[in-house]
Amino acid sequence: MKWALIVGSSGDIGSEVAHDLAAQGWSLYLHYFRNREKNDKLCASLQQTYPKQDFIQLQCDLTSKKNLDEMIEQLFGLDAVIFAQGTTCYGLFHDLKFAELDTMLSMQLTAPLYLLQRVEKKLAQNHFGRIVFIGSVYGGAGSAMEVGYSTIKGALSSFAAAYSKEVGSLGITINVVAPGAVDTQMNSLFSKQEKEQVNEAIPLGRFASTSEISYWVRTIMNERASYLTGETLYVTGGWLK
Ligand SMILES: NC(=O)c1ccc[n+]([C@@H]2O[C@H](COP(=O)([O-])OP(=O)(O)OC[C@H]3O[C@@H](n4cnc5c(N)ncnc54)[C@H](OP(=O)(O)O)[C@@H]3O)[C@@H](O)[C@H]2O)c1
Repeated sequence: MKWALIVGSSGDIGSEVAHDLAAQGWSLYLHYFRNREKNDKLCASLQQTYPKQDFIQLQCDLTSKKNLDEMIEQLFGLDAVIFAQGTTCYGLFHDLKFAELDTMLSMQLTAPLYLLQRVEKKLAQNHFGRIVFIGSVYGGAGSAMEVGYSTIKGALSSFAAAYSKEVGSLGITINVVAPGAVDTQMNSLFSKQEKEQVNEAIPLGRFASTSEISYWVRTIMNERASYLTGETLYVTGGWLK
């Protein structure tokens, strides 16, 4: 049985990825930070639909190394890791507080990279390891008011390009799926009018659904995607490209 860890399965994109991977026969570690209720529901629904697969919930605050070490100790078999966690801070960069930057960096960059160091051997075991980050179009294009977030997403793409060169011979691939605007909670703070303005700037004229992002994660997990590594795949409806 193949096992994947979905970091942030309690999020909108992460839960969609969980549904898609379960449908493909994967057993899953379902990670959440605060939203236990949503993750409980997800887990129960997957257990009911796919009774022959296993679903294990893991709680972890990725800003805590102790918490992260405890989560890693609970992983046994592991063939894939999908990083779908993330938060942003809106505002001018010169107003970004050290603590806000530090939190974004540790939960989106330091913790994932450390986790990968610890699980590299497990991912190499079957000579079929998959790592997928949910990045952002801002990692390439950059965004005013989200400079810290854009920097981190860009760093993930650089990491994927570099690390892919070290682990290719171990049968591990690493890629970034970089969405544009997706219809999720993360964008709920935008007004209807602000969303309309973004829609006008997107060549396809609308936000992506979570399913249109998850599709690419699912595709990368396919055995026939084994020749794709070190890439950032922009899924933006043509926005900012
Ligand atoms: N939505 C978009 O338009 C968009 C566009 C481009 C890229 N993305 C990227 O896609 C990914 C998922 O976004 P989404 O829209 O699905 O967001 P979301 O629904 O807000 O989910 C965010 C996830 O991050 C987890 N999280 C937050 N703080 C954490 C911490 N300290 N430690 C561990 N986990 C933590 C949350 O856990 P709990 O809920 O359990 O607390 C949740 O699972 C993010 O990396 C985001 O940057 C989103």
